[in-house]
Amino acid sequence: MCGIVGAVAQRNIVPVLIEGLRRLEYRGYDSCGVAVLANGEPKRARSVARVADLDDQVRETRLEGATGIAHTRWATHGAPVTDNAHPIFSRNELALVHNGIIENYESLREMLRGKGYEFVSQTDTEVIAHLVHSLYRGDLFAAVREATAQLHGAYAIAVLHKNQPHTVVGARQGSPLVVGLGEGENFLASDALALAGSTDRFIFLEEGDVCELTLEKVRVFDRDGNPADREVRQVAAYGGAVELGPYRHFMQKEIFEQPRAITDTIPQADSFDASLFGENAQKAFSEIDSLLILACGTSYYSGLTAKYWLESVAKIPTQVEIASEYRYRDSVPNPKALVVVISQSGETADTLAALKHAQSLGHKHTLSVCNVGTSAMVRLTELSFLTHAGREIGVASTKAFTTQLVALFVLAMTLGKMRGHVSAAQEADYIRQLRHLPAALNSVLALEPQIIAWSEEFSRKENALFLGRGLHYPIALEGALKLKEISYIHAEAYPAGELKHGPLALVTEAMPVVTVAPNDALLEKLKSNIQEVRARGGQLYVFADADTKIVNDEGIHVIRMPEHYGLLSPILHVVPLQLLAYHTACSRGTDVDKPRNLAKSVTVE
Ligand code: G6P
Repeated sequence: MCGIVGAVAQRNIVPVLIEGLRRLEYRGYDSCGVAVLANGEPKRARSVARVADLDDQVRETRLEGATGIAHTRWATHGAPVTDNAHPIFSRNELALVHNGIIENYESLREMLRGKGYEFVSQTDTEVIAHLVHSLYRGDLFAAVREATAQLHGAYAIAVLHKNQPHTVVGARQGSPLVVGLGEGENFLASDALALAGSTDRFIFLEEGDVCELTLEKVRVFDRDGNPADREVRQVAAYGGAVELGPYRHFMQKEIFEQPRAITDTIPQADSFDASLFGENAQKAFSEIDSLLILACGTSYYSGLTAKYWLESVAKIPTQVEIASEYRYRDSVPNPKALVVVISQSGETADTLAALKHAQSLGHKHTLSVCNVGTSAMVRLTELSFLTHAGREIGVASTKAFTTQLVALFVLAMTLGKMRGHVSAAQEADYIRQLRHLPAALNSVLALEPQIIAWSEEFSRKENALFLGRGLHYPIALEGALKLKEISYIHAEAYPAGELKHGPLALVTEAMPVVTVAPNDALLEKLKSNIQEVRARGGQLYVFADADTKIVNDEGIHVIRMPEHYGLLSPILHVVPLQLLAYHTACSRGTDVDKPRNLAKSVTVE
């Protein structure tokens, strides 16, 4: 989703801005642009192709300047065409980039038209540019503070004005923005990764903050218009760019990184201790009577899987809800419920808003399971557990999902132990199983050649059905999501017991039916579902455990998993589904890492 980079320096800053955009490419975008003050005038280059094309343009036109802003745009208001690409200018004096959606843009546009402003784009952003321009009386910082007070909706912006050649002003409300502190130069960006190599000192702006960057100084004002003293944080982990290595795509690399990511996420300690979730966790966990899990996309499916663990192991009632639904419906708050938000990025707009909504309803205890320690979600929750997946570039989440599952399993065990449902012997056994997971995953990854053979058949299909039961139903959901996200094949998942209540009507020879069939208590029932599909001529693709008796037969294709893994089985079973989606997408020639219309980090509603 939209990315912002800005800088004030005493050198040509365009290469830094372009490199920043490259680092934000993974978020997803459909146009991009950069503007600098060149000889006192705002000049820009914009492209509806990739950042590499923008780079060619700035080299050819020798666009150079020491103060600049840049942007990757994921279209919301207005098609991805050059006129709508940012930076947006106001009267050739002011340039502005924006991430977010302004809800009252229509009334503001009418008001600004009345003042003689002409609109040349279909964006809501142009309203902000003209509004700031209309309020400018020699102080850009003051004009932005006045303008943002009139905006409804979500935004992160960066803006420059020709009359203040060494100033960039930023503001955030509902969309992320960080300030990077340099030596005699300062930066702004949507996330700290964009500024890797330029600085490792950051201010993570808070909701409603407006900041002014000059060469030597950064000033921040809070939403009430008072000077705010924000903490400067050293973030050393943002080393160099992530390399693809021997892999064809980042998604493939990330699938194969899962044994390492899981090793890094499994706690070192030999016991499931509340302190893994933060200082106050012991007390907080002892005060709760249930869980409310809120998330979006793949993270929602990890929450659905966790519900099975939390209710069967910890015996604690657990509700899992899509964040965008929860935030807008009337619910009955239970102040004794622990609110758990799950998010790879920690910046997903709906999950953040759902968290704030829960807090406003009186939920006291909150926990984030997140892959980015400096994210807004981690900062807003009382407790947190960080997954150590490392940076995930592929839009379709893989290693973030399996590490979330590890985190949530540890949560279920910790609560189960505290509530007297996990004995010392069981605890030791589960810790042993967790430690063995990376090796078990390596054996699953070795199934890749068999999955490639299946993917060739899948690539010719337009629909697919995924079936699972119990713990593996959310895994079927995730498998279907992966396939549709990156191969554009329509895929749906059902709990296998629902087959007769609708989806069976779709089963013909043209419909592949993928079945996640571990050897758990529901296997016999799943076997009957398999027969129901076979009887209608459907082609079955079964991921079976080592000790199931399902064998290859006419219309039944079986890949046997290396070992049976009990409660942790979902973490293994999702991996072949990731590989199936990946190789099917490769056969269809889609843009695997950046599927059409999708964004990595959904920072608007
Ligand atoms: C987007 C991504 C998904 C991700 C979802 C939630 O849709 O494409 O891969 O699962 O957002 O993101 P989060 O960062 O909150 O886990």
